[in-house]
Amino acid sequence: MSIDRTLHPVKTLRGEIVTPGDKSISHRSIMFGSLADGTTRVSGFLTGEDNLSTLKAFEAMGITIRQLSRGELEIEGRGLDGLQEPVDVLDCGNSGTTMRLMSGLLAGQKFFSVLTGDQYLRRRPMKRVVAPLATMGARIWGRRGGELAPLAIQGTALKSISYDSPIASAQVKSAILLAGLYAEGETTVREPHLSRDHSERMLTWFGADVRPFPGGVTISGRPRLVARDMHVPGDISSATFFLVAGLITPGAELLVKNVGLNPTRSGAIDILRAMGGQLDLLNEREQSGEPVADILVRHSHLKGIEIGGEVVPRAIDEFPVLSVAAALAEGMTIIRDAEELRVKETDRIAAMASELGKLGADVTPTPDGMIINGRERLQGGDVSSHGDHRIAMSCAIASLVAAGPVTIADTACTETSFPNFWELLELIRA
Ligand code: S3P
Repeated sequence: MSIDRTLHPVKTLRGEIVTPGDKSISHRSIMFGSLADGTTRVSGFLTGEDNLSTLKAFEAMGITIRQLSRGELEIEGRGLDGLQEPVDVLDCGNSGTTMRLMSGLLAGQKFFSVLTGDQYLRRRPMKRVVAPLATMGARIWGRRGGELAPLAIQGTALKSISYDSPIASAQVKSAILLAGLYAEGETTVREPHLSRDHSERMLTWFGADVRPFPGGVTISGRPRLVARDMHVPGDISSATFFLVAGLITPGAELLVKNVGLNPTRSGAIDILRAMGGQLDLLNEREQSGEPVADILVRHSHLKGIEIGGEVVPRAIDEFPVLSVAAALAEGMTIIRDAEELRVKETDRIAAMASELGKLGADVTPTPDGMIINGRERLQGGDVSSHGDHRIAMSCAIASLVAAGPVTIADTACTETSFPNFWELLELIRA
């Protein structure tokens, strides 16, 4: 069912919000907690649909997971060899992280399993994990020669490898590291730029021998993982919607609390500051080995900039809403090296160029990014989420400063990563 929403422009924005738990870290808390010996307690867990897909998959493999209260879980880990063959297909829903990381994990089990997902996930490329896993000896079949899900996986003994990934992708890196847990010896992954390093940090926290080095990471096979308590920090990818909201709305002042600032994730802060955005970090602290702060954001005069290179993987999920900031900045913004946006939940280059265009923005898509000429205002209109949570929320942020109402078609997808997004947006409308 398509839930459409009509949003009206605001006078200004005021107040504070607490950022919901990090999606990437929440997925990994279930995975690593399940493979550890003992009970792992998790707080701050994001109960979005994507993470619930991971949770249900591990329940289907015999893991007991108790939801104590919203965002609080207890996972009865059964050790590296404690998973059981699922009696049915595992449904990853919309979640690429679930499907790609589980491919690596399931490749080394002693059983057979099948992974599927929704219409969007079944269109996304899987060869990027299937091919390197095959060189480890994994037996994985999928549509179009293993490119598309459903994926059928016959678990088997794996060999360690040294892999040079052509893309900076934490999903590819993590799939190989997870398979590497089951291989004898040392598995190494190199990547062109450092992608998010949550798997490395968290596997270390759970007791694995993980050794990052410039350009890559090595993991030793067959560790004993031990249950650890963890607190999931807030998701900077969710926080960035409100940072951009505060920057583009005249007179706005917002406090965005509990933002995870892992340096492999904080590219959006660097980009928005380079555009002239006023973002003050307050109450800087550490939570379960991840840097966290509250961010005070004020309306700012933004300027267009050039974005490319190493910052791109550090801000990869934020480009839809960064393109909204660029559409309202003075001058031209050029985004390069971001071709990965074309294979996200939807083609985010095409989707943002088309939807921002409907609101009067001047956006030209390029093969690896966008060229955006900033305007003083956007106009109202009808846009679509393309079934992608981050496109829906980016359109909602653009609507705050449009000259008329904006109707967004198909907004239920925000449940995947940010279930209380609409509530928080309502809260800060002054
Ligand atoms: C993620 C990695 C990124 C990101 C996704 C979550 C992860 O994908 O876009 O939302 O949790 O590892 P890629 O690895 O494809 O860049």
